[in-house]
Amino acid sequence: MDSTYVIGLRKDVRFTENMLMTNYGAFDASPFLKLSARMHESLLAADKTEDELAAYVLEDDDIQGLQIFHKYWQIMSRSALLTYTLVSADTKLATISPVGMGFSFGPKSKLDQGAKQLSRFALQRTCKGATLIECPKGWSQIDILDVRLAGVIFYLQAPHTVEALAEKCGLSHQVVEAFLTMLQEAQALTGPGEGGAGQEDQDPGLAHWEVHDLYFHTRCQLGRHNNGWATTYRFTDTFPPLPQVKEAMSRESVPLPKVERPASESFFHVHETRKTRRDFASEALTLNQLGTFLYHTVRVKEKYDDDKGGVTFRPAQGGGALHSIEVYPLVNRCEGLQSGFYHYNPLKHELERLSSLTTSCKQMLMLGRKMMLDQSEPQVELIFASRFRRIQWKYESLAYSVILKDVGCLYQTMAMVAEAMGLAGVALGGGHMDLFARISELDCYREGSVGAYMIGSRAPGTD
Ligand SMILES: Cc1cc2nc3c(=O)[nH]c(=O)nc-3n(C[C@H](O)[C@H](O)[C@H](O)COP(=O)(O)O)c2cc1C
Repeated sequence: MDSTYVIGLRKDVRFTENMLMTNYGAFDASPFLKLSARMHESLLAADKTEDELAAYVLEDDDIQGLQIFHKYWQIMSRSALLTYTLVSADTKLATISPVGMGFSFGPKSKLDQGAKQLSRFALQRTCKGATLIECPKGWSQIDILDVRLAGVIFYLQAPHTVEALAEKCGLSHQVVEAFLTMLQEAQALTGPGEGGAGQEDQDPGLAHWEVHDLYFHTRCQLGRHNNGWATTYRFTDTFPPLPQVKEAMSRESVPLPKVERPASESFFHVHETRKTRRDFASEALTLNQLGTFLYHTVRVKEKYDDDKGGVTFRPAQGGGALHSIEVYPLVNRCEGLQSGFYHYNPLKHELERLSSLTTSCKQMLMLGRKMMLDQSEPQVELIFASRFRRIQWKYESLAYSVILKDVGCLYQTMAMVAEAMGLAGVALGGGHMDLFARISELDCYREGSVGAYMIGSRAPGTD
């Protein structure tokens, strides 16, 4: 035989005296743990086939031991804990590891007939010194251990048969077939479609997905990865947490007026009449209105300190009460306030002036105007920027999704307050990360734009 599979354990599997533990659960494995030491060593080293491991058990523990081995082997296989490494001529070529319960690979897995190409969703990246291929459609990842397989990946940009790949890459038919079977299990292969696209795009369910969206979707939910998830505080020992509120960004500040309890219709009236309003009046909103609006949407109501960066409570809800989103008013026209670019200090309820309306600021306002269907001249664009690390320091896998959900909470809070105050407002779903970085002079990986809300005085007759 030209190639075979040696078996190992998923990276997160570890044993205590009696238990088999993973990131996602544990079970009592004491009968299995008492079996042949040679079998355990080889399983941890991932250097023997299933038959070779079973032979150790038969020699060391007799037929009763073999029965225990088979029972636990089935459990570990069904629980997606076993990895399979393709070996040829004593060289390890690639390892497939399960990352979700949909994994069903085994030494007897078969490759479907016909030419294959790589799925457009398949991603190759490096992780801790390994080159791996993964696909958000699947439940496994493949570590590429031999450069010759990189050639196979390259040629799979277009449909190829096993024979053609074997010839082009100088590999045996059997090795190529085994590797493609791994890629098939990872859902990283598709059949030929039209115009170079894969067959997968004939499925409307898949055709609509962009690669980054599907990858993001599968990595911030559970099911298709075994990365740390939710509250893991993984940076506790390496970086300090960010505080609840930023240091002042400017020495020039403008205290904001506010009305604590502005007159308003009843909640349900406001709730019913709320709508997106893109028609602004020719007279701009006032500083008093802007201050009142920010006070009732973004200010800090309560602040608590702890050794994890603390929390604040504000008018809008926010994941973990972390509130990573800073608000930067880009003021084109506001009665009583000099036009320019500001940062809102939610603790002091004041504006920190950062710059005049530079050319880049005007470009940003132009973009905002286009995003609100070019219907009115912008008055104040409230740009939301996340101090990403506030969320990333605590949460793993779903940090960015929490940030975007926080943006949604802010949109809705702003829409309701704008409605109650008789203002006009539009959520702006797009943005320009580099333009914002230029205007704010912030490092886009530390703090970057994630949304915006345009606010203005309501045009008469548009109620
Ligand atoms: C996430 C999100 C992004 C939006 N982006 C924009 C936008 O970029 N431009 C715009 O004019 N309206 C935008 N809107 C407003 C929607 O078009 C509006 O909510 C929708 O048409 C429903 O109308 P309604 O708000 O009056 O109920 C956005 C709304 C949301 C919730």
